[in-house]
Amino acid sequence: MADHDFDGAPAPLTWEQIRVADRPFAPACERNKGPILEVLRRLFADATDVLEIGSGTGQHAVWFAAGLPHLTWRTSDLVSNHAGINVWIDEAGLANLERPLALDVAGRPWPIASAGGVFSANTAHYMHWSKVEAMFGGVADLLPPGARFALYGPFARDGRHTSASNAAFDRTLRAHDPGFGVRDRRDLERLATGVAMQLEEDVAMPSNNRILVWRKAPDRLR
Ligand SMILES: C[S@@+](CC[C@H](N)C(=O)[O-])C[C@H]1O[C@@H](n2cnc3c(N)ncnc32)[C@H](O)[C@@H]1O
Repeated sequence: MADHDFDGAPAPLTWEQIRVADRPFAPACERNKGPILEVLRRLFADATDVLEIGSGTGQHAVWFAAGLPHLTWRTSDLVSNHAGINVWIDEAGLANLERPLALDVAGRPWPIASAGGVFSANTAHYMHWSKVEAMFGGVADLLPPGARFALYGPFARDGRHTSASNAAFDRTLRAHDPGFGVRDRRDLERLATGVAMQLEEDVAMPSNNRILVWRKAPDRLR
């Protein structure tokens, strides 16, 4: 089963989000937050701050900030999602969790000048390719040499989906918006190389998802 699948039911047209106790709630976040945190603990062990792009409901942010108390977790998203993210932040009362920045990856300048690391989940397939390009460009501008960008989601490899559920999800996304779609790692690698980021790791995650870890090249390679 993929994150976006619900026990064999047809994949939803859009990101499944409901309200529970007056908070936005994405069931997929409850399933994937534990496994993702285990990877982030290792990737961001030495980071002092991480920017999250597309914080969505805010569920991930609360879980990751609590699980990574050595760093500051900076949330961000389109303004339309801020109210929900703030409900989660208010309830959590965590000192290392920051209120959302108004960050549209396609806008310039970004409302933050640097970050010790960047994380984003389930965003690249919900953006047109020009915005994926903008996201990689913006991230590369923020990161110091050697810092990491961890991108979670379903990804294809060399023109092929890695599971039937990812293929079905891709069809559903493209039917909803032809500019959306599960991204191919090969295309992202080409994009990343152009902005001095290199693929460091491709971590297998439950439900046919991955975490692609990009590392900013040392200055001398830029
Ligand atoms: C499928 S939701 C994923 C939310 C959350 N990260 C998760 O895993 O549940 C996609 C997210 O991407 C954000 N997003 C879409 N276009 C964006 C853009 N141009 N700039 C920043 N965020 C964007 C949406 O607002 C939404 O929060």
